[in-house]
Amino acid sequence: MPDVFDPDAVRGYYDGLADGEWDRLTATPVEEAKLHVHTHYLREHIQLADHVLDIGAGPGRFTIELARLGARVTVADISPVQLALNRERVGAAGHEDAVVARREADVSDLSQFDTAAFDATVCYGGPLSYMGSRLDDAIDELLRVTKPRGPLLLSVMSLVGSSQTHLDGIFDVMDASGRDVVEAVAASGDIGPEVRATHHMHMFRWSELRALLQRHGCEIVAASASNCLSVGNAEALARIRDDHDAWEMFLRWELDYCREPGAIDAGTHIIAVARRA
Ligand SMILES: C[S@@+](CC[C@H](N)C(=O)[O-])C[C@H]1O[C@@H](n2cnc3c(N)ncnc32)[C@H](O)[C@@H]1O
Repeated sequence: MPDVFDPDAVRGYYDGLADGEWDRLTATPVEEAKLHVHTHYLREHIQLADHVLDIGAGPGRFTIELARLGARVTVADISPVQLALNRERVGAAGHEDAVVARREADVSDLSQFDTAAFDATVCYGGPLSYMGSRLDDAIDELLRVTKPRGPLLLSVMSLVGSSQTHLDGIFDVMDASGRDVVEAVAASGDIGPEVRATHHMHMFRWSELRALLQRHGCEIVAASASNCLSVGNAEALARIRDDHDAWEMFLRWELDYCREPGAIDAGTHIIAVARRA
C-alpha cells in the first residue's frame, strides 16, 4: 500500500465536514440498514459494563449505541471538531454519563493508551481506509490496546460494493481523466489525487482484509457486508419502510445475506470482528 497517510489532510477534511457526518447512517432506508448491520455486531460482541475504545468515533452514532448497550466508552478521533460534535450529540441523546474520556488520537499511534486498556475496540466507518503504509501500525495498535481475547470490531470501504454502487461516477472519472486512471483504481483499490482532491483512500477486498488480520495473528470471529441486499434498492425499500413487519423482515434478510461468504464484498463497507488467536 502506498506511503500516503496524511493526518493533516484527514483531520482538515473531517474538521471541515463538521456535522455533515451525523446523518450518514440515517438519511435513507439504505443507510438505516447499514446502521442496523453495524449495530448488530456491537450487540453481539459488547458486554454490559465493558470499557470500549470507540476510535474514529465522529459525531457519535456508535458511541450512543455502545452507551445503550451499557458499555463505558472512551471516545477518540483525529479531528477536534468531530470530538466536540461527539460531546454535543452524545449529551443530547442523554448518554454523556457513559463516556469515560474523550481524546484526540490517530489510530496508528495510540501510545496515550495502556496495553490491554480496553475490553473491546471499535473502529467503524473508514479510518483504516486512509492509513496507507501505516495500516499495519494501526492494526498493531488496535490489538495492543485491546485485552488479549477482546473483540476488535472494524469496518472499511469495500472495492467491489463501492464500485457497484458508484459505477456511473467511475465512468464520469473515466471520461474526465482517462481509462488508465480507473483501471489503476480497480487493480489497486487506491483512490489518489487523480480521482479526488482530499485525502487518499483505500478500498479493500475481503480476501485482502482477511489476510491482513490473519497476518496480525487474529482469528476472524465474524464478517459481513454492509450492505448487500439494500444497495441499489432505494426505491424498493421506500415502498416498505413504513410497514413495520415488512421492514423487520427485510432487516433479518439483510443481516443473514450479508454474512454469506459470497456476499461479504458486496456492500459499500466490509465489517469484521477479530481477536487475537
Ligand atoms: C466516516 S467517519 C465515521 C464515524 C463513525 N465511526 C461512524 O462509523 O459513523 C470517520 C471518522 O474517523 C475519523 N478518523 C479518520 N482517520 C482517523 C485516524 N487516523 N485516527 C482517528 N480517527 C480518524 C474522522 O475524523 C471521522 O470522525
